[in-house]
Amino acid sequence: MNTIVEPMVDLSRKEDGTNDIAAFAQDVAEGLSRRQKHLPSRYFYDGQGSRLFQQIMDLPEYYLTRSEFEVLTENREAMAQQFSREGFFHLIDLGAGDALKTKILIQELAKQQQLFDYVPVDISGDAMQQLSDSLRTELPQVNVEAVVGEYFKALEWLQENKSERKVVLFLGSNIGNFETSESIAFLQRVRSFLQPGDRLLMGVDLRKDPETILDAYNDAAGVTAAFNLNLLHRINRELGGDFDVEQFYHYAMYNPGEGVMRSFLVSKIDQDVAIKETGQTFHFDAWEAIHTENSHKYSLSSIQELAGTCGFEVETVFYDGQKKFADVLFSVR
Ligand code: TRP
Repeated sequence: MNTIVEPMVDLSRKEDGTNDIAAFAQDVAEGLSRRQKHLPSRYFYDGQGSRLFQQIMDLPEYYLTRSEFEVLTENREAMAQQFSREGFFHLIDLGAGDALKTKILIQELAKQQQLFDYVPVDISGDAMQQLSDSLRTELPQVNVEAVVGEYFKALEWLQENKSERKVVLFLGSNIGNFETSESIAFLQRVRSFLQPGDRLLMGVDLRKDPETILDAYNDAAGVTAAFNLNLLHRINRELGGDFDVEQFYHYAMYNPGEGVMRSFLVSKIDQDVAIKETGQTFHFDAWEAIHTENSHKYSLSSIQELAGTCGFEVETVFYDGQKKFADVLFSVR
């Protein structure tokens, strides 16, 4: 562990000597060698991908971000009170980013003069530095200790260094991007760091009219298509790939039975793609698809089932006015 600028903690340094490009190349080679080709969604967010995702969040069709803002804004008083019922706590924000949503809660907690400190966690050191700086001017009365690193490294560090009660935030429906087995493993692992009195507030996108969901992942302006296709541009840029991106298109489908949105990149023609960094050529049949993302949509019963499986109890479900999205407060059994 190496602390950079106090009070920021940096757990992000790799100990195994691998570099980011080698890891990216390995993940791409593995994913494109599967029978059902796959690319991991964590690679969406390079500079260009992050800009496109900002645009997605402003699209009329992409209701998720606005709905969660409404959930937090409308319920902030009750949330802040429920977090604080047992006194002081560490507010741990997994994947904090610019914390635009979390700031609604931090402001309310500060207004209620509740006793807490704020521990944003993110793999982006730049984001954590900027967030620490912005909070120092916006909310100087709040103690902030940013942690740079992966979620579980950060939770281990917290386990050793922060003994008091924990309220963990996992906002933005990120849980929905895991496979079901991964989301169970993730929540069980989070649960293993918590004790009675601790809580988890998690964002989930709710099941609704399938057309509404489909439109959110296939917008009229084509921003989501550009976002998905950027993965291929990124492979070209960073791994020396020769994807002819024009020969692929974005296809999204929603299965209302399972409550799962799936996004693909479909090859329009029979083609070969060489990637220098992996030293391989990958063949695509005409209409063969690369699976890039799953986005699970939840019902109250599926949330309760997930909670039960993972050692949590649903304490309160907070909704927006149209019940499109929920932030679910879990307590520990
Ligand atoms: N992962 C986010 C989600 O599920 C972001 C996202 C929006 C996305 N549109 C997408 C991911 C299209 C892949 C493809 O909402």
